Amino acid sequence: MSESSEIFSKVPELGYREVAPATDPQAFARILEARRSVRVYDQTPVPERVMREVLEWTLMAPNSSNLQCWEFYWVRNPEKKKELAKYCFNQPAAKTAQELIVAVARPSHWKKHAKQMVETFKTAEAQGQKIPKSAWAYYQKLAPFVYTQGPLSLFGYIKKVLFFFRGFTAVTPREPTDHKGMALWASKSCALACENFMLGMAAHGFDTCPMEGFDSRKVKKLLNLKRSDEVTMVISVGKRGNNGVYGPRVRFPSTQFIKEV
Ligand SMILES: Cc1cc2nc3c(=O)[nH]c(=O)nc-3n(C[C@H](O)[C@H](O)[C@H](O)COP(=O)(O)O)c2cc1C
Repeated sequence: MSESSEIFSKVPELGYREVAPATDPQAFARILEARRSVRVYDQTPVPERVMREVLEWTLMAPNSSNLQCWEFYWVRNPEKKKELAKYCFNQPAAKTAQELIVAVARPSHWKKHAKQMVETFKTAEAQGQKIPKSAWAYYQKLAPFVYTQGPLSLFGYIKKVLFFFRGFTAVTPREPTDHKGMALWASKSCALACENFMLGMAAHGFDTCPMEGFDSRKVKKLLNLKRSDEVTMVISVGKRGNNGVYGPRVRFPSTQFIKEV
């Protein structure tokens, strides 16, 4: 564990510098204000280039271990789209949408993506870039240890017991230790990407509605997904109709949620 803790605590010598581009907080605030959950859309089509650009922005979201265990299904086939709206209980937000995206967390993809990361490192090194030892160790050793749960989560439960006892004497990673935990793990990152998508659409002047009101089993079947995959949400896209926003935004007082400790 000491080598793995060093992966977290040591700053590697990389010599890489990146200057943050100039940003505009007022523009960001306007985008945040503009994003509302829209339940009725008008007939305005969403340009394909907007969809493609915003989907690329979606993939820029931070994600756990950079393993990118997500997929975004842009359901374009008219029959499938109709079927999907039906599986969203024919909610107006789905039925009147110009476009529908299904955001899927795919926890089982960690393994092939860890290998892909190692391949990416090999290519980078062949091109003269230096990849720190800790990065290799992260994807070759630590990630497999943390994300392997084994059949019926048996390896996960062994880890849980080990972590429990280790926790008495050291700061210890606790999760994920079963397949449900892996689903949660992947869903967190996928949900962040969904927010990128919705804010990106708002930046382009288009509206969205995130939906978890759907029949997950039927949606998975429609997209040929596995049982272990989690449909994080379905997001509809379009331009709000006159009656598209059901009311002013309601948020409870900030003091209820923002805690300074
Ligand atoms: C995970 C999630 C699932 C949601 N599911 C639905 C849904 O199925 N149908 C719907 O009309 N709105 C759905 N919403 C939208 C919320 O109702 C909405 O975000 C909330 O009322 C706040 O309004 P605002 O988004 O306009 O700020 C969902 C939102 C989230 C984040």
